Amino acid sequence: MKFKGVIPVAGFGTRFLPITKAQPKEMLPVIDKPVIQYVVEEFIDAEIDNILMITGREKRGIEDHFDKSIGLEMLLKDAGKDEILKKIEEISNISVFYTRQKDRKGLGHAILQAENFVDGNPFITHVGDTILIADKNPLKELMEIYNKHKKPVILFERVKKEDIEKYGIIDGKKISDKLYKIEHLVEKPKKEEAPSNIAIIGVYLFDSKIFDCIKRTKPGVGNEIQITDAINLLLEEEDIYAYEYAGNRYDIGNPYLWLTANIEFALKREDLREDIVKFMKNLNL
Ligand code: G1P
Repeated sequence: MKFKGVIPVAGFGTRFLPITKAQPKEMLPVIDKPVIQYVVEEFIDAEIDNILMITGREKRGIEDHFDKSIGLEMLLKDAGKDEILKKIEEISNISVFYTRQKDRKGLGHAILQAENFVDGNPFITHVGDTILIADKNPLKELMEIYNKHKKPVILFERVKKEDIEKYGIIDGKKISDKLYKIEHLVEKPKKEEAPSNIAIIGVYLFDSKIFDCIKRTKPGVGNEIQITDAINLLLEEEDIYAYEYAGNRYDIGNPYLWLTANIEFALKREDLREDIVKFMKNLNL
């Protein structure tokens, strides 16, 4: 069975204005790569190379990034800059499909735009502004669970109480070490009303049954078609699992987390580590 990849990138980066006024938040750099490239590379590493991005206005920079840049490639070749040339060619060799979400009606509505592309196959949706770094690729783990149970599965993380209202929250029963069976979901509840602190982190494995549920979903929080509400409808028909993510997660739409991601990634780079450490020691805070 061939899994497809769906990356919604249509959302405004309101937490990061004004830089996101004309630039997609997914194009923000973490060191020298845009966030979206980390996400695409995670799919490629999981051997999912059939990828659709759900874009919107102001998101053209993403398409340009994955396009071939003949002039630049020739320039690098002539200058003998083989190492960077290889990197640039690798990016443009990735084949990505695009479709626009013409009305911004929420994440559920964005995912619905993938129905024709998915064409009856199971697929993984991964929001385009989050980088996941773990020992094992979490997309591979989701596929293993799907292959075993043949049911949708979504990634979760436990979050701090004060962060609960930023997420879709899961009420479920633990069935093994990191696996839960979902009973109900609530989109962005108040912390006093939340059934748990188990948060959806924007990575979902669905099959095409989700599309009918999205079509039946009424506008919810923020007057948007929420994927969380569509999953609740799907729960009336079948079991859905939630799997605990164990690794680092960088939600780049948040300026503080974007900055800390850059520092952490720089500390992992041989060519930057020493200078960064020196810089930080000299800050004398
Ligand atoms: C969306 C989902 C929410 C999920 C979150 C993860 O919210 O609606 O359920 O927890 O992504 O990033 P957004 O962040 O787009 O408001």
